[in-house]
Amino acid sequence: MEVERVQVIASLSSHTIPAEFVMPETEQPVATTFRGPIPEIPVIDLSDPDEENLVFRIAEASREWGFFQAVNHGIPTEVIRRLQEAGTEFFGLPQEEKEVYAKPEDAKSIEGYGTKHQKIVNGKKPWGDHLFHKIWPPSVINYQFWPKNPPSYREVNEEYGTHVRGFADKVFRSLSLGLGLEANAMKEAFGGEELEYMLKINYYPPCPRPDLTFGVLEHTDMSTLTILVPNEVPGLQVLKDNHWIDAKYVPNAIIVHMGDQIEVASNGYYKSVLHRTTVNKEKARMSWPVFLEPPPEFVVGPIPQLLNDQNPAKYKSKMFKDYAYCKLNKLPQ
Ligand code: OGA
Ligand code: NI
Repeated sequence: MEVERVQVIASLSSHTIPAEFVMPETEQPVATTFRGPIPEIPVIDLSDPDEENLVFRIAEASREWGFFQAVNHGIPTEVIRRLQEAGTEFFGLPQEEKEVYAKPEDAKSIEGYGTKHQKIVNGKKPWGDHLFHKIWPPSVINYQFWPKNPPSYREVNEEYGTHVRGFADKVFRSLSLGLGLEANAMKEAFGGEELEYMLKINYYPPCPRPDLTFGVLEHTDMSTLTILVPNEVPGLQVLKDNHWIDAKYVPNAIIVHMGDQIEVASNGYYKSVLHRTTVNKEKARMSWPVFLEPPPEFVVGPIPQLLNDQNPAKYKSKMFKDYAYCKLNKLPQ
């Protein structure tokens, strides 16, 4: 069955959007986005030489928001620019060239070019297409899902992958220290060097009715951390104290989401952030999240050193693949 890509629908230059993208009135962006004096989403300077302060800021943001934007993060601007350029070129290819990378219909993995991977909520579809492929470790990479065009694609994605791993190590370290644990505790709780890095490119085409629809519907990520590079078109929103708050575009910042596994391992100390995206009338929004996932059979649960009579385990320990199965099929964990 041929899947209808949102990019193709968007190219038909209509003034309306098909009904399956139209959210119920009470759930539409304008009805649900908070407009008022709001605390700013934390922006954290990763080059802060005062490590204690840095650990404090990261732990505070991860606890209160489950989310922060990192500046001076050490990933060269030029690497990010080339990553964005390569992904943008891929989504600019003729449709049949992109379809070469389509996720096979019977595949168990989410890897490949696709549309509406997210389970439809209320029968509604999100306004976006995507490409998923793993970028690390080498033993799990399937290069068949890496675009050959543009020719620079592989090199820039490998280079970005190296930087993203160094950055993730810094964040895991701060999250561990913020819990009073050894510096390597968090990363080890997710499989250490076996952690799998799944890159996604989101492509949200310009939308004639951005007031009616979303690019991704509200969700938490089931990953450990999600490390995301956006393009310059804003749209990401996070839920804080029951309000949907716009994340402003901070040039050169890297966005960090706490995923479900961080909440589980920290026994609820850090919070998995509920988020969604809006779309833009004139411009395509794009983003490059990397989901850091435990190996499928690795068991994640609350870190034992955190537990005692006052702090009993609030979450089950289970293999990541079982967690993922329940999440994707909307079953209780
Ligand atoms: C996602 C997601 C946010 C964004 O793909 O899981 O939340 O900014 N994307 O595109
Ligand atoms: Ni997400």
